[in-house]
Amino acid sequence: MSQNVDHSNSEGEIDTVMVEQRLFPPADEFRAKSQFKSLEEYQQFYDAAVADPIAFWSAQAKEHLHWFEPFTQTLDWNCPNARWFLGGKTNASYNCLDANVDAGLGDKVAIVWEGEPGETRQITYRELQEEVSQFANVLKRLGIHAGDVVSIYMPMTPELAIAMLACARIGAVHSVIFAGFSAEAIADRNNDAGAKLQLTSDGLYRRGKVLPLKETVDQALSKSPTVENCVVLKRVGNETPMTAGRDHWWHELASQESRTCPAEQLDSESPLFILYTSGSTGKPKGIRHTTAGYNLYAKRTFQWVFDHQADDIYWCTADCGWITGHSYVVYGPLSAGATVLMYEGAPNYPAEDRFWEIVEKYRVTVLYTAPTAIRAFIKWGDEHVEKHDLSSLRLLGSVGEGINPQAWMWYHEKIGGGRCPIVDTWWQTETGGIMMSPLPGAIATKPGSCTKPLPGIVPKIVGEDGMEVHRGRGGMLCIDTPWPGMLRGIWGDEQRYQDQYWSKVPGMYLTGDNARQDSDGYYWIMGRIDDVINVSGHRLSTIEVESALVSHPAVAEAAVVGKPDEIKGQAIAAFVTLRGDASEELRKDLKLHVRKEIGALAQPDDIRFTSALPKTRSGKIMRRLLRDIASGKEQSGDTSTLEDYTVLAKLRDDEE
Ligand code: WTA
Repeated sequence: MSQNVDHSNSEGEIDTVMVEQRLFPPADEFRAKSQFKSLEEYQQFYDAAVADPIAFWSAQAKEHLHWFEPFTQTLDWNCPNARWFLGGKTNASYNCLDANVDAGLGDKVAIVWEGEPGETRQITYRELQEEVSQFANVLKRLGIHAGDVVSIYMPMTPELAIAMLACARIGAVHSVIFAGFSAEAIADRNNDAGAKLQLTSDGLYRRGKVLPLKETVDQALSKSPTVENCVVLKRVGNETPMTAGRDHWWHELASQESRTCPAEQLDSESPLFILYTSGSTGKPKGIRHTTAGYNLYAKRTFQWVFDHQADDIYWCTADCGWITGHSYVVYGPLSAGATVLMYEGAPNYPAEDRFWEIVEKYRVTVLYTAPTAIRAFIKWGDEHVEKHDLSSLRLLGSVGEGINPQAWMWYHEKIGGGRCPIVDTWWQTETGGIMMSPLPGAIATKPGSCTKPLPGIVPKIVGEDGMEVHRGRGGMLCIDTPWPGMLRGIWGDEQRYQDQYWSKVPGMYLTGDNARQDSDGYYWIMGRIDDVINVSGHRLSTIEVESALVSHPAVAEAAVVGKPDEIKGQAIAAFVTLRGDASEELRKDLKLHVRKEIGALAQPDDIRFTSALPKTRSGKIMRRLLRDIASGKEQSGDTSTLEDYTVLAKLRDDEE
């Protein structure tokens, strides 16, 4: 990193102060086996998709999905409403299961599961097809029809994936709610979606303890009048109250049903799922995805980005409560006939080496995880990693937040042994699948950059005036053309869909993130639009200042926010968690370090040490809350997605 402040600021552009020079081309051995072996191959494929997106997606859909009836129109685009593959009939559960069994993969392991207490299960594609069919019959028996919403609040067990695929099989719409949310949050989502059925378990294991999920669900159901029945998976065997007439045991219902259930022939655009995301403020929105476009996009992006090979043991550590679990635990890899590893529990139970133990035990080849986990591993210390043989790994992935270059290098060296490419994948709940990422055999990586758009994706970086900014400058990241995986709307609130994503920059999808493109055409995500800090007229991105802080050996994690300043407009406040102890000297040292790394302009005015940062339950740092703390305001907006409320109280106590 070096100092590089461009002072010719035009309206709405963002300054960049970070220059990352390191470049990591894939090893020849990796490249030789890849689907895309060179930048030229990628470029040709990409250019063909841009030149004729209709022909491109039409050919992809014909080849990579099963059609009960072929589609007659590839796209109907009436901005902001897209409908893909019209007239076609398909089924996502069929594409994930029957298509693979019919292709001879019936005996291949689809899901390898490890429970937190250590039990393990292997389920083949044929067994999964039977389990899903049986549970689909349970759904039908309970009066669930195509279009009905099923609310799922379950631990990371195979039954969670089975429940999702069973809904898909009969055309019911699943709404998965991460099994860490409160009763209030479940009820809100159930009411918004008009859910008819609740699926849950008696409890789940978390760091060796049993959490009684069903108790939370009981509270939620007392405020969810649309829910008629509740099916309970016996996971831990704890004492569980059952309400007669409403609650049923999963195994009792399933044992009465047949293990065959033909997949419903569904319209391309029939709704597949709703997934609630909080956005940065206010009421959670139910992001609406439909069948064919989403399924195709999840499948192809999985194959491209993870360079899928038939013998891979692929592990995505995300929970199915998030979009990453939907697209890259369930629909993407299973459509592609992959072997997916699912782990139920915490990364630090019974000890901080659990992930590495699992990698060694199952000979995992591809690992996809989040920066928040990587930063935790760094903090816990290298000794936990070094105990295990990680030589089976060939590819690593990151998702959910920007990855600081320092954390990227650690991941590359300590986990990847210097030989595994890292795919830093940028995307959103709304986009359905990965939008920008290296294709690992074709695109050399730079630490902290998501590199290039995937085929069919046309990003644009624009200023406040809606015009594209100059190459090298930061601005709002938009997507210019529709793609099959895009959200189709917000459940029950089409106006909000229009306002939030399609109004600020007419004709383009507004991602809500800022980004810049460097001189090689690589993209760098600069954080959320709302998080930009304006210091003396210079608009700075959070990630660059944070990365400068994290590059100091004493720092584990950092979050920076703006706070009002009479002279500069905004001053920079940094919240820092350390690998060791805090001291006044270190505070000074960190300020100097940032000054040296990226310049005086970006030097934090205020550095606060804290034992933890407030995060969403999916692990993203909540800068909005820190902003209020930094400026001494009371907290505002929705905090139902906050991971640990005590962190907030602690930060307040830590205030100087
Ligand atoms: C952020 C997760 C930088 C970004 C799939 C985006 C990232 C939001 C990256 C979506 C990345 C995700 N680099 N930022 N590789 N991946 N983000 O809906 O701000 O949970 O808009 O989807 O996470 O989060 P969501």
